[in-house]
Amino acid sequence: MKKLVAYFSASDMCITKTVAEKLAAAAGADLFEIKPQVPYTKEELDWTDKNSRSSLECRDKSSRPAITDTVKNPKDYDIIFIGFPIWWYTAPPIIKTFLESADFSGCKIAIFATSGGSGMGNTAGDIKEICPPSARIIAAKRLKRSAEKEIAEFARVAEEQ
Ligand SMILES: Cc1cc2nc3c(=O)[nH]c(=O)nc-3n(C[C@H](O)[C@H](O)[C@H](O)COP(=O)(O)O)c2cc1C
Repeated sequence: MKKLVAYFSASDMCITKTVAEKLAAAAGADLFEIKPQVPYTKEELDWTDKNSRSSLECRDKSSRPAITDTVKNPKDYDIIFIGFPIWWYTAPPIIKTFLESADFSGCKIAIFATSGGSGMGNTAGDIKEICPPSARIIAAKRLKRSAEKEIAEFARVAEEQ
């Protein structure tokens, strides 16, 4: 079974990156980092500033921050895990860029997120809207970076669906 963990991580704590690396190790998956062409500075990530780059992008539903690279053949994978930090209760706009950057039709997708406390909310529904209709979102879970057992379980649960 060929698996991919694709992730975006923005803060200097690299929380999603840490979870993604642990998940890839647990699942035996390839690892791909979704990188913005213009990296986010600390100021740009300030959600208390309504005019910061992240605030402006999150308010603009058409925002698609450019990425440096994408996955060439998503269909080569039996399952694709996509991970990101929760921004304003959902996925950051760069995840839309990624989902539109390659053909995910027919793909089996499992999403995971890290957050300061918010749950997944309607994140899976928001992502489904961007994916081709034939893509399946089979799992969606918030994971803490220190939760080794949950990460290992997620690697397996997602495979079984
Ligand atoms: C712009 C922005 C918006 C955020 N919105 C939320 C939120 O709605 N709920 C929440 O619990 N945490 C929120 N956070 C906190 C991040 O989800 C959390 O710190 C995450 O684990 C960071 O992951 P990273 O280190 O991979 O970037 C937000 C962070 C940023 C930068």
